[in-house]
Amino acid sequence: MNAVPKSPKSFDEIGLPAARHHLFLCAGPNCCAEAQGRKTWERLKASLQERPLPALRTKAACLRICAGGPWLVVYPEGIWYGQVTPERFERIRREHIEGGVPVAEWIGAVHPLNPATSPGPDCAD
Ligand code: FES
Repeated sequence: MNAVPKSPKSFDEIGLPAARHHLFLCAGPNCCAEAQGRKTWERLKASLQERPLPALRTKAACLRICAGGPWLVVYPEGIWYGQVTPERFERIRREHIEGGVPVAEWIGAVHPLNPATSPGPDCAD
């Protein structure tokens, strides 16, 4: 087995050991206007910096659905939220990530990658 290249950051520094969610946001350019996607991404980043959560965040280049964005995918539940504005992100954060109750009206799809071990959309952490 090849050695894993040394990273400038440790897994501890990125918050991996404590993470309970991973948030992937596609900020366009095909699923939404780039400016719209950038605003949502900046709000998501700022929100997690202002009030940290046990969650990782990743800006995705494209989630391949390419319409109805910005798209936010939340794992482990595998919930895909469409048209995520900065204001919608704050509600998703409050009700789903912190409160454990997904925001049903904005869900485009639910697909946990391992349903046997995923808490599903009705979970509470
Ligand atoms: S550009 Fe956002 S899903 Fe493809």
